[in-house]
Formats: sequence, structure tokens, C-alpha cells
Amino acid sequence: MYKLAPSILAADFKKLGQEIETISRAGAEYIHIDVMDGMYVPSISFGMPVIQSVRSCTDKVFDVHMMVEEPGRYAEAMKDAGADLLCVHQEACCHLDRTIQQIKGLGMMAGVALNPATPVETLEYVLDQVDMVLLMSVNPGFGGQKFLPYVLDKIRRLRAMLDARGLATDIQVDGGIGLGNVKDVMESGANVIVAGSAVFGGDAAANVQAFHHIFEEMER
Ligand code: DX5
Ligand code: ZN
Repeated sequence: MYKLAPSILAADFKKLGQEIETISRAGAEYIHIDVMDGMYVPSISFGMPVIQSVRSCTDKVFDVHMMVEEPGRYAEAMKDAGADLLCVHQEACCHLDRTIQQIKGLGMMAGVALNPATPVETLEYVLDQVDMVLLMSVNPGFGGQKFLPYVLDKIRRLRAMLDARGLATDIQVDGGIGLGNVKDVMESGANVIVAGSAVFGGDAAANVQAFHHIFEEMER
């Protein structure tokens, strides 16, 4: 039920393929891929050619987090590069409903991400159309930032909205999560955990296993 999505933004890019193989072998369920365009967020990370070149390293879910203005422009190219799940920011889509339909029409799972200050109620009318909601627990753009504690309340609020509609939609939380606070995030109702520096800062395989031990404890 719980899934770990290590963010490769924190990996060593000079051996990116090996890093992805390491976390895949250790059992990470998703590969979280942060795409940044230098407009929606200040940084620029990487795009389709890099994603395509590491696609053959694993058969795990490529969970592509689009920190990009009007990400619908790249939906088809991301599908071709190997994305399985395309997550777009509500704040970056002028026509969110259309973009969600476009992603699903291409055969990908559709996710919608919200910045810390964006209320969950903004998703009221699209909630039943998405496979996953990503709640940012830092302001997007950089790895290694501090978790914003008020997001725990947002997770609870979103889980209650989903429960009220009988939806079992995934709630992913991204930013500042480590072994010390992941339990709080799960107890609030999230089930897909992104971790960048907490996985790749040190022994990545051992860190994946440490997260999974906590998941097992929670599932018991
Ligand atoms: C932030 C990215 C995150 C980031 C997480 O803009 O969306 O996925 O890489 O890194 P940590 O876990 O180090 O906060
Ligand atoms: Zn991310």
C-alpha cells in the first residue's frame, strides 16, 4: 500500500543509470523524476533525452513531476520518453481539466501537484479524474529543504475529501521527508513518499530498506 519514490534529483548524475538500478533493486516502487523549466521554478534540471536514456535501467514506474509552465505542451514527448505517471502543477495549467484528459488520453496515469500555499479545495471538481495528488511539503525548485509542518493538516484534509467521495486516490508528499518524519506523513494519510536527499545522501540501498521497514511497521 505504501510506496517509496526516491527523487533522482539528489542522485549523482555522473552515474545516474547505476543509481536508478540500485534503488530499483533495493525495492523502490517509483522513480521520482523532477523536471524543472527555469520558469515555473527557478532551476533547470533535465528533460526528455535524459529520461529516455535511463528508461532501460528499470521497469519501475517513472513518476515524472513536471515543474514546468503549461506542461501539456510536453505530455506526448514525456510519454514517448518513458513516463508512466505524469504529474502537473495546478498552478501551472490554465486549463487543468484539459491537461488531465490529455495525459490520460495518452495512456499515462495523471497526477496533480499543489504548492504548499495552494488549498486542496481547488481540486474539488477534478478529484475523481486523477490517479494521484501530490502535496508539496517544500516550495518546489530545490532538493534538501525543510519540511513545512502545516502540510500535515493539508494531507488530513485531502484524505477526508477523498474518503467522503469513496475514492482511494494516492496521496504523494514531496519535500523534506526523511526517516525521522515519514511516519507523521503516513499517519496523516499519505501513501506515496518522495525522498531525495534522505535516500541518495548516503547508502541509497540501505536507505530504501530503512523506509520500507517503517512502511511494514505502519502496515502491521
Ligand atoms: C523539489 C522536488 C523534490 C525534491 C525532494 O522541488 O520536487 O522532489 O527533489 O528532495 P528532498 O527529499 O531532498 O527534499
Ligand atoms: Zn518532486
